[in-house]
Amino acid sequence: MENNKLIHIAIDGPAGAGKSSVAREIATRLGIAYLDTGAMYRVVAYKALSLGVSIRDEEQVTALAGKIKITFGPGGNPEVYCDGQNVTTEIRSPEVGRAVSVVASYPGVRECLVNLQRQEAAKGSVVMDGRDIGTYVLPQAEVKIFLTASPAERAKRRHRENILAGKESNYEEVLADIQKRDRMDMERKHAPLKPAPDAIILDTTDLSQQEVVETIIKIVREA
Ligand code: CDP
Repeated sequence: MENNKLIHIAIDGPAGAGKSSVAREIATRLGIAYLDTGAMYRVVAYKALSLGVSIRDEEQVTALAGKIKITFGPGGNPEVYCDGQNVTTEIRSPEVGRAVSVVASYPGVRECLVNLQRQEAAKGSVVMDGRDIGTYVLPQAEVKIFLTASPAERAKRRHRENILAGKESNYEEVLADIQKRDRMDMERKHAPLKPAPDAIILDTTDLSQQEVVETIIKIVREA
């Protein structure tokens, strides 16, 4: 990567593969923007749950996605706002975790959020993490990474994260939840989770976060 060259970095992969920690650190190291697209789907699920809208009601959930305003605070670990309300903690609840893949399977919801994501990418260099960034949102991204790890390792990481955040956590439940979510994300019709044909696949099962970050930075510098 030459200095000042625009760069779009797509990081996709299943739940708990370490996408957001890695993406945040890369954005900070390179001094470019970071967009957590999963947080956007989580905000829609959170809003539906908090308004008592059934997440199975595709029409109402889609209308909601078009109406709400999702914004991020500044910095490398940004706060997430929904219509001006700080929902950073709320969108990580197990209830939202269980609802989000249903909401994310609705084409109208995806269209709405993908438009916002592409608008962010049009502003300049960005690291974006999600499920369909390399395949659908930014198929022209200069760097595409597919991060993965064994289900047991991913559940272990998510379980540890919960404990560190002072949340109740049961390893078996965490494992079951992420496996269910991955299945839904991979089997949905519209923009399912899969590596782009030109993505570099990184299995992080036996790698530290630092090793993953260094590997990706090297790929970016060579792009
Ligand atoms: O952090 P974690 O891996 O648990 O998930 P996330 O990135 O917060 O994404 C939550 C959910 O949003 C995923 O399981 C997908 O159902 C959906 N999602 C999506 O469909 N497309 C994206 N680009 C990002 C997330």
